[in-house]
Amino acid sequence: MKQQFHQSDELHTKVMALSNLQPKKTEKLIAEIEKPINIPPLPEGFKVEPPQFDTSKRLNKLPKQWDLPQELYKKHLPKYNIGTIVRIQELLNAGDSYIGQTVTIAGWARTVRAQKNLCFVELNDGTSFAGLQIVISDKIKNFEDIIKTNVGFSLKMTGNIVQSPAKGQLIEMLVDDNLKHEVIIVGYADPQEYPMAKGAQKPETLRQKAHLRPRSNFFGSVTRIRNNLAYATHIFFQNNGCLYIHTPIITGSDCEGAGEMFKVTTIFDNDLKKVPQINGKVDVTQDFFKKETKLTVSGQLQVENFCVSMSNVYTFGPTFRAEKAHTHRHLAEFWMIEPEFAFADLFDNMEAAEGYVKFCINYILLNNYDDLEFLDKRVKQGLIDYLKDIVSKEFIKCSYTQGIEILLRAQQAGAKFENDKIQWGMDLNSEHERFLAEKVFQRPVFIYDYPKEIKAFYMKVADDGKCVRAMDMLVPQVGELIGGSQREERYDVLAQRIIECGLKLEDYRPYLDLRRFGTVPHSGFGLGFERLVMMITGVENIRDVIPFPRYHGSAEW
Ligand code: 4AD
Ligand code: MG
Repeated sequence: MKQQFHQSDELHTKVMALSNLQPKKTEKLIAEIEKPINIPPLPEGFKVEPPQFDTSKRLNKLPKQWDLPQELYKKHLPKYNIGTIVRIQELLNAGDSYIGQTVTIAGWARTVRAQKNLCFVELNDGTSFAGLQIVISDKIKNFEDIIKTNVGFSLKMTGNIVQSPAKGQLIEMLVDDNLKHEVIIVGYADPQEYPMAKGAQKPETLRQKAHLRPRSNFFGSVTRIRNNLAYATHIFFQNNGCLYIHTPIITGSDCEGAGEMFKVTTIFDNDLKKVPQINGKVDVTQDFFKKETKLTVSGQLQVENFCVSMSNVYTFGPTFRAEKAHTHRHLAEFWMIEPEFAFADLFDNMEAAEGYVKFCINYILLNNYDDLEFLDKRVKQGLIDYLKDIVSKEFIKCSYTQGIEILLRAQQAGAKFENDKIQWGMDLNSEHERFLAEKVFQRPVFIYDYPKEIKAFYMKVADDGKCVRAMDMLVPQVGELIGGSQREERYDVLAQRIIECGLKLEDYRPYLDLRRFGTVPHSGFGLGFERLVMMITGVENIRDVIPFPRYHGSAEW
């Protein structure tokens, strides 16, 4: 085994020398981010009565507390162990049912403590926040090597699950039978070099170590929650009759009409002279798709095709925006969930959005409590109470016009906004959005019926002709979590809006055609998946809730 250690060390040194690289001791933090803005406090005595809605005709009465039995989702499904290893989460979730059984586990050592004739290892395999405590006796043949292992080593062991005498854990593993039990040292980690050996590190430091970031408690918790949010998303929509539609990543149309798209092309190489040109411009008819193509900014236009045949659908995929934004909530590549509901108006849409977000929070409260407890302690104090509070209250529905009135009144009462030119028709800035959600209502708020000039072409024009039936869900700390709308289902009004917005009718022909044969009122929304993860984990920076963040100036790993 020792020889194996030396070999891997030598190999590492050789590789470093060959590539002329030195392990960096201090790494500069790249691409500093704008600090989250200051939200003005509520002026003294400032009060707003939440707008009231008549919900008597609604089919869904949103329950105040969603007590979802955990068993409903995972425990009744057939179990299929992959390989011969039992995962630690499985052991810890099984109560006392593994006690007395011999099992094999594998993972990475978090701590190794040697006493005279015993060695205590805490092993974590990433499947749960907690690791498993293992007690190894000196009867095991390679005991001398085992006590030299350290944090970061990968180990595989077979032993007996026993009731733990220690506080706070029901079970532990005993490795003490020289014939039936064993410890295999799988991979070495030099404690002097291992970057994770020195306790907790800042999220921005971890970001520089993409290969080891998931080993940290912080990113481990975020990753498990992110995984369960994806799972909860599918459960929610599948359970409510929505079909999962895979919309394309490469597209010719700009859904948001904002022109912030990455081009997809095989036409460019390093020799500009080889790029086919026509009249001084690139000849896109000679490109791969024989036209100009881009990475999608939204799957909405395509998913609508399925909505007007199959009723309720959703898409959940990667989304790209070439925005040069350096904020705590923008990425160039993120994931979006976009449901689309047929025969549904704006109110139905808001109700579905509220139900979905509450379901996700409940799912995480039930399935990731350990992770939330850690985040509550280390990342955002009061996180668990905050999440419980959100699910127990109805979200606020406040029209854009009412929102502007509230902001104006707050301003008159002394609230200082950086952008202080508050007037009807303006686009709300992040500080205004967060003021409403964080300070005034202190919970998620839908702002709906926006002026048509500041919203996308596809939104239904309201009866007043000035607004469109749009809605944004604004959330404390995060800001805009959801953007959605009722869609314009009238062919002529939609065509008019496309022209008004300066877009070309021919680019949107197929979309217009959806309004020619059996058009129906329909609505949908887009939820930024990373922003949902931010809200539920309390993490302030969007770059710390996605495995490989891509943003202006950075596409590492
Ligand atoms: O409000 P947006 O632009 O809406 C749409 O794309 C619609 N087509 C959705 C629909 O109706 N089907 O984006 C939706 C959400 C935002 O509310 C935000 O949460 C997220 O996507 N989002 C981003 N998340 C991270 N980085 C970015 N650059 C984002 N841009 C939007
Ligand atoms: Mg939006």
